[in-house]
Amino acid sequence: MVNDTFLDQMRGTGDPPADSVIEGFITAGEIPELNALMGALHANMARPAGYPTPLAAYLETSAQLPAWADPARILRAQRLFTLHGPLFGMVMLFKSLPILYAGGKGGAQVLAMTGQLTQHYRRRAGETLRFILDVMEPGGLGPGGKGVRTAQKVRLMHAAIRAYASAAPGWQGHEVEWGRPINQEELAGTLLAFSTVTLEGAAALGLRIHRQDAEAYFHTWKVIGHILGIDPRLYPESVPAAAGCWKALVRRNFRRTEAGLLLIRDHQEFLTELIPGRVFDRGIPTLLRYLMGRKISNTVLDLPKSSAPFALLLFLMEVFHLEKIGYLIFPFLVRAARKLSVDLMESLQKYLVTGQSRPFSIPPSLTEH
Ligand code: HEM
Repeated sequence: MVNDTFLDQMRGTGDPPADSVIEGFITAGEIPELNALMGALHANMARPAGYPTPLAAYLETSAQLPAWADPARILRAQRLFTLHGPLFGMVMLFKSLPILYAGGKGGAQVLAMTGQLTQHYRRRAGETLRFILDVMEPGGLGPGGKGVRTAQKVRLMHAAIRAYASAAPGWQGHEVEWGRPINQEELAGTLLAFSTVTLEGAAALGLRIHRQDAEAYFHTWKVIGHILGIDPRLYPESVPAAAGCWKALVRRNFRRTEAGLLLIRDHQEFLTELIPGRVFDRGIPTLLRYLMGRKISNTVLDLPKSSAPFALLLFLMEVFHLEKIGYLIFPFLVRAARKLSVDLMESLQKYLVTGQSRPFSIPPSLTEH
């Protein structure tokens, strides 16, 4: 189990292999070249022959799965995801992504800062779901898999943002408290948010997940974490151990901030846009509250209580722990959640198709400090 001293050290640590590749491009003033190279890689998933040596070496090394990666467990997790994709996607939108806005020691601030500059922090949700589809499609983490390439690209994007944000005026003066932007502790927290915290959310919506499936899902995310450059000492052994670790990260990092409130407001507008019709609009804060928990909703993210009938249903579930004893009411909720999740994913799909997926793009403004 990780302790505070170790986590403090991780807060001050970025991702040296990816950071040094990015520093090379920044020093040479070659960010447009990097954007073009990564765009080509994204488009055809080609082998990066002819790339500048440090980038080629990074792409070669970071594509290797760790020795402990277990193909059988990865396939099991991918099958679980394929079976319940829309529900998992919905939990990502209503829990795993917005809960990160509670991270007030630089986490929410870097998201808000980058989003304001690039005018697209709302679309990050869509891009993150796309990332998950890439890694969770069977074969996505195999040799030359789409998920591997996407994760390599995201890791470089994080390194570029790290370089920019640490020099940005908004970061100056906070280095002692916040550490490095997108540091190892933040990365580990996000890894849990996307894996075990998602599993908890799916269970709260009635999905029965076999213990071995849950462990396989978590294992697969640790493999993804490896490609993303997350220090393996930060990986909890098992799903139950992850719960203790998540608690420690919440205690250390969650707090109410302007950036977090801005992000959650924007996220709610984004969800309103995504969900077809208006009937569920008032249920959005309710489902967010239900999945993220009352304490974070009240004290950190200021999520309003809703009087919608759906709210009453969820309230009753919460009060009477109906997920354990109330199987009469539960099938209804599960059916409603499933229907909503499919609608949501369809709508997100349209948003991504009509929208503005970007292969790889570090705006020049990010490196101008
Ligand atoms: C498991 C860990 C993580 C995963 C899987 C992940 C995933 C992603 C993905 C898929 C993107 C690409 C979005 C796009 O193309 O527009 C992205 C961008 C980004 N990530 Fe992460 N991320 C992780 C951890 C973090 C952490 C810890 C932070 C810092 C708080 C962070 C901050 C950002 C920022 C600022 C961007 C750029 C967003 C923008 O362009 O506005 N990420 N991440």
